[in-house]
Amino acid sequence: METRIDEIADGIFRLSTFVPDIAPPAGFTFNQFLVLGDEPLMFHTGLRRMFPLNHAALARIIPAEHLRWIAFGHFEADECGAMNEWLAAAPQATPAHGQTGCLVSLTDFADRAPRILADGEVINLGRGKRLRFIDTPHTPHGWDAGVMFEESTRTLLCGDLFTQLGNDRALTEGDVVGPAIAAEDLFRYSALNPAMGATIRSLAALAPRTLALMHGPSFTGDGATALSALADDYDRRVSGAVRAMTATV
Ligand SMILES: [Fe+2]
Ligand SMILES: [Fe+2]
Repeated sequence: METRIDEIADGIFRLSTFVPDIAPPAGFTFNQFLVLGDEPLMFHTGLRRMFPLNHAALARIIPAEHLRWIAFGHFEADECGAMNEWLAAAPQATPAHGQTGCLVSLTDFADRAPRILADGEVINLGRGKRLRFIDTPHTPHGWDAGVMFEESTRTLLCGDLFTQLGNDRALTEGDVVGPAIAAEDLFRYSALNPAMGATIRSLAALAPRTLALMHGPSFTGDGATALSALADDYDRRVSGAVRAMTATV
């Protein structure tokens, strides 16, 4: 395995490792995002066992000890499994996550005390980069789920939203909704809940220009339309699940 690096927006780098054995023949990517600034931030730590690969990749951009923030979308192995390895490699770095995730998991799991981010709170990285944390509970999964929005580039760090198979490109202007619907049909990875359509539509209101997918290519274009279409599909799934349930009672 190797980790590929692409700059997907100004000062935002995608570190991508492709695993062909997951959901073959298409395979599956695991992507970390490095946002540069006076206080560089990495979104997702990657799997613990991928730490050597990701550490070597990051070192091609900046020394790991320059990292100041370790953030991610929800508490799960690919999102934060290597957190403590990164904290050891970056002595000045602080883990940052939403209130639920910090109080439920990080205050115990993290080797360094986390910064607890309120919904909407901004981490100012300097050099114009500002990352806003947004709570998205149970969307697509995880009580503690959240995303981050980089305001200067209008880049939404989507976490598992839009998860899709394959590894044909780092950045696309093409369809990311159809492949996400197909991956949801395959994996059933989302915690369907009545609020998720509205939660995803609230992200569309940010009008992102770039969607940084944890599993799949990054997307450049009309992020609001893509998010609205994804929200519509989840509304369809939730309504269908409720209809199926009420039909049996
Ligand atoms: Fe996840
Ligand atoms: Fe993930």
